[in-house]
Amino acid sequence: MAIICNEATKFFALETMNSTYAMQVGNSGELLHVCYGGKIDCTDDLSALTQRPDRAFSPSPAGQGRSNSLNVLPAELAGFGSGDFRMTACRIKKANGSSVTAPVYKSFRVYNGKPALPGLPASFAAETACRTLEITLEDLFSGVEFLLSFSVFDNSDVIARSVKVVNNTSETVEIENLMSLQLDFDHADFDLLYPQGNWAYERHIERMPLHPGIQSFGSVRGSTGHQYNPGFVLAAKTASENSGEVYGALLVYSGSYTADIQVDAFSGIRALLGINPENFCWQLTPGAEFHSPEALLCYSAEGLNALSAQSHKFIMEHIIRSPWKHAKRPILVNNWEATYFDFDDNKIYAIAEKAASLGIEMLVLDDGWFGERNDDNSSLGDWFVNTDKLGDFAALVKRINALGLKFGLWFEPEMISEKSKLYEKHPEWVLCVPGKRRSYARNQLILDMSRKEVVDYLFETIAGLLKEIHIEYIKWDMNRNLTEIFSAALPAGQQGEVAHRYVMGVYELHERLLQAFPDLLIEGCSGGGGRFDAGMLYYAPQIWCSDDSDALERIPIQLGTSLFYPCSSMGAHVSVCPNHQTGRSVSYDFRAALALGGTFGYELDITKFTAEEDKIIREQVAAYHKYNDLVREGRFFRLSEGFGRTNCAAWCWVSDDRQEVLAVAVCKQARPCSQEPFKRLRFAGLDAGKVYTLEDGRSFHGSTLMNTGIDVTVALSKDASCVMLYLKAK
Ligand code: GLA
Repeated sequence: MAIICNEATKFFALETMNSTYAMQVGNSGELLHVCYGGKIDCTDDLSALTQRPDRAFSPSPAGQGRSNSLNVLPAELAGFGSGDFRMTACRIKKANGSSVTAPVYKSFRVYNGKPALPGLPASFAAETACRTLEITLEDLFSGVEFLLSFSVFDNSDVIARSVKVVNNTSETVEIENLMSLQLDFDHADFDLLYPQGNWAYERHIERMPLHPGIQSFGSVRGSTGHQYNPGFVLAAKTASENSGEVYGALLVYSGSYTADIQVDAFSGIRALLGINPENFCWQLTPGAEFHSPEALLCYSAEGLNALSAQSHKFIMEHIIRSPWKHAKRPILVNNWEATYFDFDDNKIYAIAEKAASLGIEMLVLDDGWFGERNDDNSSLGDWFVNTDKLGDFAALVKRINALGLKFGLWFEPEMISEKSKLYEKHPEWVLCVPGKRRSYARNQLILDMSRKEVVDYLFETIAGLLKEIHIEYIKWDMNRNLTEIFSAALPAGQQGEVAHRYVMGVYELHERLLQAFPDLLIEGCSGGGGRFDAGMLYYAPQIWCSDDSDALERIPIQLGTSLFYPCSSMGAHVSVCPNHQTGRSVSYDFRAALALGGTFGYELDITKFTAEEDKIIREQVAAYHKYNDLVREGRFFRLSEGFGRTNCAAWCWVSDDRQEVLAVAVCKQARPCSQEPFKRLRFAGLDAGKVYTLEDGRSFHGSTLMNTGIDVTVALSKDASCVMLYLKAK
């Protein structure tokens, strides 16, 4: 990694392992984007890349003549209302009412390492393993400064970018829009790939050609949401899993965001990613600063698998902080689908006893242990044990620990039930417009996490319990999205800040709990995978992937999630059949094939198991211990195109030394033999010259496995059939 700066020509370049990202200050002072892609030699003359001929209806700044209009030049941080009619990356409203914004170059500096973003999750690295280029731009119309930071990292193709706004002026301004990422291209020959879905249908990868106009997705929900994910890929039209140029962008943020890709009138692209300007407006008083969330950028010339591998490695090394990230997670059993709200201490202990006998390592007590909660109508906010249901809770946890099991507990910290002690005491803590209609979802309301006293209350209550009881894991849920976003604690002029302050409050609570309990394992959750993002991964090394625990449905969910996120971050369990979401029954092998690809655990009533089921579970537990190092630390390859949305799919993990391989191939639906193609599992990432031996004793060269593959036609000929192959090289 390197940063190249030429003060005389005001040229800047970032070099990663395999890419160059270059910028240069243009004639009118704007910071222009020169190029981004495979490595180039920056000593060559690149000036043509930032020059554009005269174009009709494209104004130029005074003194610039008719060419070089801001409307056609590729920019790094496009301003508003000063000649660039494409989407804008920053907009500052001044005291005089004008929002015209034109950031121009002022200075730069380069330094080792990168500072943390106050109150926000962001990538981190040792000073020696990372370099940062900071370019300061100044808004010609106000004097407000934008500090654009770009960091590059050792052995990585990821570039981290964020923007700080500093109000050095003597008047209060408002940030109406501030994008973390802007990426301009002079052509639009790309397909757009992005994760989309819904509750129990998260992160299905959509691939479509770009078309003129704006293609946009995002969230106004106050969280990233089930529907989209804050990242996208621009892929050359011929790019596939293992070849072709691809560019990935991912936002390290857990709130409302927007991702917009505009194909402009000159067939260029402007891509933006950042906080959603809808319902966002931040007052910046003289001397104050505002930090955008961080965005990550990555380039690969070797297709989507290589891009994902870069992203996984980066998230593991530079985003997830938990001491658990490289550790084998305890195999857990969660009581939710086994009991729902209907449990007592005897039932929970019975599950724990059975779990211990099967080799399961942690019991997680889900929703319903607190207040008077026996259904979803009450008690959120009252994080006090329901002793009627659970008796002496501390004693129960001790008995569970005595079985050799860890103990984990479910919380939904951001929520409040109208029927709760907390609501009786603090109705003003609810996010709503006082005296006006408010919306309910799952019968619950939302706490105003922008208020310090709310975060304090939650910290004290949860930390109090964690101090008293030996709780080693918490499942942090969030089962509804924000509505009537208004804080009774903020003045009228700052209501546009509430949604972002809410997210900052959520981050602060995580931070404080982790400071107090550094070894606490947090599993994020939001009605399944409704807040699966790099922001949450900064605090929680794993996130429940989806409330759809049907293994067949999990194929596109988990493969889609793998576009950006590592397998070790995906909460995946073997659940009961018929499945509670789909009514489908599939074999234990098939369920394990998916669950072993994530954090692994069980979500069913194990006390009802037959002797045959006990035997199966013990085998699965052994398989987890055998494979999990590889799944967690190995390189992941999708071996089929389409991110699991096709009838058959395959994937594998390869150890760093390429000695060990675990491959999984699945078929969703049997077809008559007249319709069924032969199926070959073709591997990737192996050492061509090594000989790999399967558990049945067959051996093949890596070259054969990658270029011809192993026939799996018969094994994949039934509904929900799978093969799992473990290979070792000599
Ligand atoms: C959400 C979670 C589930 C479970 C329930 C409890 O839906 O995704 O796993 O914890 O809440 O209410």
